[in-house]
Amino acid sequence: ALVSMRELLDHAAANGYGIPAFNVNNLEQVQAVMAAADEVGAPVILQASAGARKYAGEAFIKHLILAAVEAYPHIPLVMHQDHGQSPAICQGAIDLGFSSVMMDGSLEADGKTIASFDYNVEVTRKVVEMAHATGVSVEGELGCLGSLETMQGDKEDGHGTDAVMTHDQLLTDPEQAADFVKRTQLDALAIAIGTSHGAYKFSRKPTGDILAIERVKEIHRRIPNTHLVMHGSSSVPQDLLAIINQYGGSMKETYGVPVEEIQKAIQFGVRKINIDTDIRLAMTGAVRKFLAENPDKFDAREWLKPAREAAKAICKQRYIEFGCEGQA
Ligand code: G3H
Ligand code: 13P
Ligand code: ZN
Repeated sequence: ALVSMRELLDHAAANGYGIPAFNVNNLEQVQAVMAAADEVGAPVILQASAGARKYAGEAFIKHLILAAVEAYPHIPLVMHQDHGQSPAICQGAIDLGFSSVMMDGSLEADGKTIASFDYNVEVTRKVVEMAHATGVSVEGELGCLGSLETMQGDKEDGHGTDAVMTHDQLLTDPEQAADFVKRTQLDALAIAIGTSHGAYKFSRKPTGDILAIERVKEIHRRIPNTHLVMHGSSSVPQDLLAIINQYGGSMKETYGVPVEEIQKAIQFGVRKINIDTDIRLAMTGAVRKFLAENPDKFDAREWLKPAREAAKAICKQRYIEFGCEGQA
């Protein structure tokens, strides 16, 4: 059944686990997440970015997720809008039937300019007001995602900034987080601790100087009733990079957020862990391998099947690693 983010994350907090929030854009990704969750008894967060809504179309995204609710009525499921850039976009998602929205006010509506604290408070507070009126949950973001190695923001396709930033901008301040929560009354807060979106997060396996997991503890202490969210939390498994490169791809050396660091973060209070890139890597590797080994095949279902299987495997692994088994 469709539930709010608040309901799902309250349960995760009460029972000390974290929930991966998987980005979905198409049928096979939705099926992969649901099959994985069903096998381990995990609750589900399916999230759609602006890019996902543009790729699939709003009606398709909506009904793909509602199809998941229909096919798996026993699984509690949050339909979440990822990175909303304005109150108007969030209102649109609420009207579409999303049970949770993210108002990302860390950047202005152009998706590039670093927003002031007051701007962020204003737009987030506004979204909380309209969302809570109909039982929809709200995630906000304080601090800018970006690399503590290069001091640059992360530039996602279409959103993000590659501006050079300061330590203060790249790490969420616990006192400011407390003020932000008091003024906005939001349900979940995305924090900046050195992660960034995409495959190229770290040039080496991250250590405490470039991935500030300990900061989760300090933030959680100030705002224990606001669920903390980690964006840019793909682990970028080396074996998936190897498959891609073995079958004709060419990806550079790169490192993601190690699972054991995420597990630490969950102990410190993180409840929602955003994952998109790992699914992309899994599916791409599987398709490359299948087509390389079966150059005569041309039925799309034949190469989508291993892609879906690979996506399911990574989802299942994360559900187990984050403690979701049997929680649904
Ligand atoms: O927020 C970033 C997610 O990975 C979604 O990426 O905007 O390319 O759909 P996207
Ligand atoms: P990754 O790029 O690390 O998978 O992060 C996804 C994300 O944060 C979506 O909001
Ligand atoms: Zn994100």
